[in-house]
Amino acid sequence: METTKFLLDEKALPESWYNLIPDLPFQLEPPLNPATHEPVGPEAFAAIFPEAIIRQEVTGEPHVPIPEEVREIYSLWRPTPLLRARRLERFLDTPAHIYYKYEGGSPTGSHKPNTAVPQAYYNREEGVRRLTTETGAGQWGSSLAFACGVMGLECTVYMVRVSYDQKPYRRIMMQTYGAEVHASPTDLTQAGRNILEEHPDSPGSLGIAISEAVEDAVGNDDAKYSLGSVLNHVLLHQTVIGQEALQQMEMAGEYPDIVVGCVGGGSNFAGISFPFIRENLKNAKDTRILAVEPASCPTLTKGRYTYDFGDTAGTTPLMKMYTLGHSFVPAGIHAGGLRYHGDSPVISALVHEGLIEARAYAQNPTFEAGVLFARTEGIVPAPEVAHAIKAVLDLAQEAKESGEQNVILFNLCGHGHFDLAAYEQYLAGNLVDIEHSEEEIERAVARIPG
Ligand SMILES: Cc1ncc(COP(=O)(O)O)c(C=O)c1O
Repeated sequence: METTKFLLDEKALPESWYNLIPDLPFQLEPPLNPATHEPVGPEAFAAIFPEAIIRQEVTGEPHVPIPEEVREIYSLWRPTPLLRARRLERFLDTPAHIYYKYEGGSPTGSHKPNTAVPQAYYNREEGVRRLTTETGAGQWGSSLAFACGVMGLECTVYMVRVSYDQKPYRRIMMQTYGAEVHASPTDLTQAGRNILEEHPDSPGSLGIAISEAVEDAVGNDDAKYSLGSVLNHVLLHQTVIGQEALQQMEMAGEYPDIVVGCVGGGSNFAGISFPFIRENLKNAKDTRILAVEPASCPTLTKGRYTYDFGDTAGTTPLMKMYTLGHSFVPAGIHAGGLRYHGDSPVISALVHEGLIEARAYAQNPTFEAGVLFARTEGIVPAPEVAHAIKAVLDLAQEAKESGEQNVILFNLCGHGHFDLAAYEQYLAGNLVDIEHSEEEIERAVARIPG
């Protein structure tokens, strides 16, 4: 029988995270103070993050050791399996070899605990009692709730209203881990009240929920804020995924021609791809790296590469990134984790420099891809991941047409067990493909400061 799963022993769990930044062939532009437009130092983050996290945010070290306690908790679900999608390949009748790294077997069903656990760990080490955060689909909120639970911290989650209504079981999961969950925008923060005054029926957005969570942390001495994507330290923690995948591809006796991941703020994509980008830069490999996003929130494909706020209320430093404008509220698609106006500055720079590619898909074709994957490989993917799967199907079709035996690797970063209401709507033919018009995007982009 041919091998389907490539499994690593627990001893193969990486001992350090990989930091791509010192290996980049260009300089990243620094975050700026919005008032002075001068570069901000690490101290700008002191009110919201613990020192260890701030050091990781700016470190120039290529390898950052993973604390033993974090590795021990990782071992509850890591190393995660790499699978060859043989049944999908046969269905597609493609010469391409399709591999996927499956992160859905973590306690909360996605890649998010890879960073939630170390973030909760460093906060506990520095005496923080409570963490605040935002969540879209609820994958991140439930992961931080889990991590706070194991580290003995309290957790307050601002959950984007549209997802709060669409995914009640995610909320219950967070509450089961002991977290307090609010539908954002709330009337508990000034940022939330401002939005509600103007838009009482606001569906919320990640940008708004971030503003609320940051305001809560800044206003309370015993609390800090925790972010589930975008920033360097979050991407750093996720690189356990790609480091394991490198070892597993070697076990499979192949090397990927193409690495694919979906992108919200960029953390799972960075996790799978950064170790392979390192191989491109350092070891003369030539893997194509493809980021996939929703057509209704086309940050990398239609956004502007400029300085913008990370949140809607404009409380964060300005970051150089592809952005649709911090006031842009993306349509309420079911891939809630991809509804972010901006993107990681590192991933934005990689796109801008032409080291990686990006493409966007509307929601119906992604659900079609998700259903096909479920019917061939058995896993019902999270709607976010279905974007990556749609791209993989297209790449496999291209391989069929060209006859090339491409090796494709993608990150199956979460299962969709809590997203079944979305699948129900898709199966009933009730999902609409919402694309913002060019004018709407132009208007939002025009509101970007400076
Ligand atoms: C399953 C899943 N995939 C992808 C994402 C997008 O986030 P990121 O781009 O940081 O991986 C999320 C975010 O919530 C998610 O839950």
